[in-house]
Amino acid sequence: MKTVRISIIGFGAVGQGVARSILAKREDLNKQGIDLQVVGISDSKGSEINAGGINLKSALERKKNKGTVAKGKENALDIIRDVEHNIVVEATPTNIENGEPGLGNMFAAFEAGRHVVTSNKGPLALRFKELKEAAEDNGLYFRYEATVGGAVPIFNLIHEALAGNTVIGIEGILNGTTNYILTRMAEERMPYELVLKEAQELGIAEADPTYDVEGIDSACKLVIIANSVFGQDATYRDVEVTGITKITPEALELANKNNYVVKLVCEARGNGLTVAPRLVPKRHPLAVGGTLNVASILTDLAGRITISGKGAGSIETASSILSDILFIARNS
Ligand SMILES: NC(=O)c1ccc[n+]([C@@H]2O[C@H](COP(=O)([O-])OP(=O)(O)OC[C@H]3O[C@@H](n4cnc5c(N)ncnc54)[C@H](OP(=O)(O)O)[C@@H]3O)[C@@H](O)[C@H]2O)c1
Repeated sequence: MKTVRISIIGFGAVGQGVARSILAKREDLNKQGIDLQVVGISDSKGSEINAGGINLKSALERKKNKGTVAKGKENALDIIRDVEHNIVVEATPTNIENGEPGLGNMFAAFEAGRHVVTSNKGPLALRFKELKEAAEDNGLYFRYEATVGGAVPIFNLIHEALAGNTVIGIEGILNGTTNYILTRMAEERMPYELVLKEAQELGIAEADPTYDVEGIDSACKLVIIANSVFGQDATYRDVEVTGITKITPEALELANKNNYVVKLVCEARGNGLTVAPRLVPKRHPLAVGGTLNVASILTDLAGRITISGKGAGSIETASSILSDILFIARNS
């Protein structure tokens, strides 16, 4: 049995999803010869550390009942630096101003000789190349499937399944909130403000929806794809961005009459990176509705390959994180 020790830094929706997935899959993984032991969990108030393996059920219950997993005052960096383990799962909030605390956590993990698996876009949308180099310099894996498209395995598809292909371009819808708003506006002929309010009531849109509706979240994800796939050194500020706030029900109605839908499309081709509302034919693979995400990869050998699925959610995002953890477990 191969024992892989991990820490979970950030114990919100995603961190807890990872803990639940490990609990649910423990027996299956043991049958495959892999034993995942969580030796440290951290939230904003403190940490639980147990070198012999944390009882995940109790940790989840404590978080639910007390609002924190903390049993001690150690912080995330104490775990990353001082607790012996193999993989740091970084799932703290996305910060696109300076990337912290995720950025510091990731660099500290590489310095301490630990692989990093993350769902946190901020550090990658700002300092992708440095992070990748820090991992490579230390002979470590840096895996970030969950940063783009939630459950949708975009990087695995491109780097593993489509290995050998040259990627010519990538198009996608990478923000579920804006896709939901545009879908509802078109279906119900409702104005933007009303649909946004509905989305906020349903918990699909944040109280401050700026990052989503102005296209910034999409730009961050597009930049991560471009850097990862085309070896660029871009930040989200290099993306030409137009959001969805000025789209009217009349424009959607006109598109509909001509058999089109309007989608917030992310596009990466060569050096050009754009996020903008586009007319998409109703039967086009990008024309997915509701909160779905989709990525369409244009390659020289395989042609166009399109995948779609849930772009967010606790367990859905944990699916991508678990897949990255298992990649490392099997390859290191
Ligand atoms: N939710 C999704 O569906 C989804 C999908 C894809 C990617 N992501 C990304 O994944 C990351 C986590 O998302 P989430 O939805 O789980 O966010 P969340 O529910 O807000 O959880 C964030 C967690 O990080 C903890 N935290 C904050 N500052 C910390 C610090 N300095 N040290 C240690 N822990 C700290 C918080 O502590 P407290 O619990 O004490 O507040 C909380 O447990 C974000 O970067 C997000 O953009 C999320």
